[in-house]
Amino acid sequence: MSQDTNEVLILEEGQTPPPGTKSPPRKPQWYDTFTYINNPDKFCRHNLEKYGPIFCTGVFGGTTILVGSAKAIQMVFNGDLKYTEIALPSTTMDMFGEYSLFQRPDLHRQRKSALRPGLTGRLLEGYVSHINNVVRNGLTQWDISQSIGIYPAVEKICFNVLTPLLLGVKLDDTDPKSFAGLPISSQIELKALYKTYFDGFYGLLKWESPLTAYGRGIKARRQLLEFMRAVMKQRREKAIDPTSDFLGMMLAEQQENPDGVFSDTLVENQCLLQLWASHYEISGLVSSLIYQLGQYPQVLKKLREEQAQLNDKQSNSHSFSPEQIKQMVFLEATIKETLRTLPPSSTANRRLTKSVVLDGVLYPQNSTIIAEPRIAHIMQKHFSNPEKFEPECFFAPKNEGKMYEFIPFGGGVHACLGAQMAMVITKIFASHLINLFNWRSPGEASFVQFPLKKLKDNYQINLQNYSSST
Ligand code: HEM
Repeated sequence: MSQDTNEVLILEEGQTPPPGTKSPPRKPQWYDTFTYINNPDKFCRHNLEKYGPIFCTGVFGGTTILVGSAKAIQMVFNGDLKYTEIALPSTTMDMFGEYSLFQRPDLHRQRKSALRPGLTGRLLEGYVSHINNVVRNGLTQWDISQSIGIYPAVEKICFNVLTPLLLGVKLDDTDPKSFAGLPISSQIELKALYKTYFDGFYGLLKWESPLTAYGRGIKARRQLLEFMRAVMKQRREKAIDPTSDFLGMMLAEQQENPDGVFSDTLVENQCLLQLWASHYEISGLVSSLIYQLGQYPQVLKKLREEQAQLNDKQSNSHSFSPEQIKQMVFLEATIKETLRTLPPSSTANRRLTKSVVLDGVLYPQNSTIIAEPRIAHIMQKHFSNPEKFEPECFFAPKNEGKMYEFIPFGGGVHACLGAQMAMVITKIFASHLINLFNWRSPGEASFVQFPLKKLKDNYQINLQNYSSST
């Protein structure tokens, strides 16, 4: 038996747990997967109230323990290579493919370190002016004489931000030449493939056929990889700037070190995955933020005050510099509060490779464990007023949102690699929106709940020009 620094007791094969150790409450039920997928927020809230922050379920088959208390979350995030491994349903793993960071734990650290510079730090700062231009341009084209379907409108702009930033290409439906040499002839076609690919992630039947979501997803995945290969070919025809975009960084590294991490297969798979993750996650976050600001005009008012101060200092609200973006502290707290109240997803499933005991609770070998923001974010122990939308909770005196209590981007070795990029794009998007428009939400919205939470496409709001509405 070995005791980890974090009081996690790792049981060796055949060891019996200490006397008094209990199993988490609740028995897995055959209908849990369905109930969870249908509305994970409701499922988590109901069971938290009934059983507390750690309970057993039958989500995705077998025994799946959902955890929300900080110590248990810390145990989940720090188990890699010691007592946990990533174990998503096998259909989902096939969609990720063997070059994602969720596969090959032995290569994880090396691959993640190699990818990080393309999504963070100096390169990310270099993307700021491009993000400003595309967002501002996109927003000024919104026809506010009629209601705007928020998610599709936001998603369109995000896609135009992300394809140049990740792949170094500008795909313009009004300019067929921008698709020359590519096996796809419009953004619509590319997005449709991504949608089919995404639908395949949780296809329940692992049968490769046009009749199943899984089969269609695998086919779309192949076509998307073919598209990525064509983009790579085009990029190699010209000089590659290692600082211009994520793919440029990888191709330049590959040229420098042909036997290094960046094989062609890894590069094309990473392009596929990062465009997928960023596109859905950021569009979801920006639209949820717009929704929350429409619900809470007093928060929008405070954001306007922060924007006014920043604009005073550098009388140009058409473009926000990296320095200004760092100063948007209330906006940052508001984005965090949006992520707290409407967390887009749980963290990835882990399988316990060994039994562990923490605080007298047994987490048995071979069971699955999921760190759940939908539990952690509504626990009064973590957030004193969980039902209130209150960005101030992240500041003194409350200083809430501590590590392992606020986990929209996961944590530990698998912590999200795109968190900084998501924050920067969302801040720039929100800043332009606040400077251009005023809006009120027409009422409660409905959301797509799973696998990512996002506003339904039909949720519309009316915008007014900000200057004329004040
Ligand atoms: C609102 C935006 C986003 C949210 C809420 C989010 C959330 C998450 C979560 C919950 C995880 C799993 C952590 C775990 O299981 O421990 C994750 C991992 C990851 N995310 Fe994000 N993500 C976002 C944006 C992005 C973006 C923009 C990118 C890339 C451009 C990205 C790339 C990744 C990668 C590569 C991983 C896997 C890291 C690893 O296994 O080491 N994400 N993200």
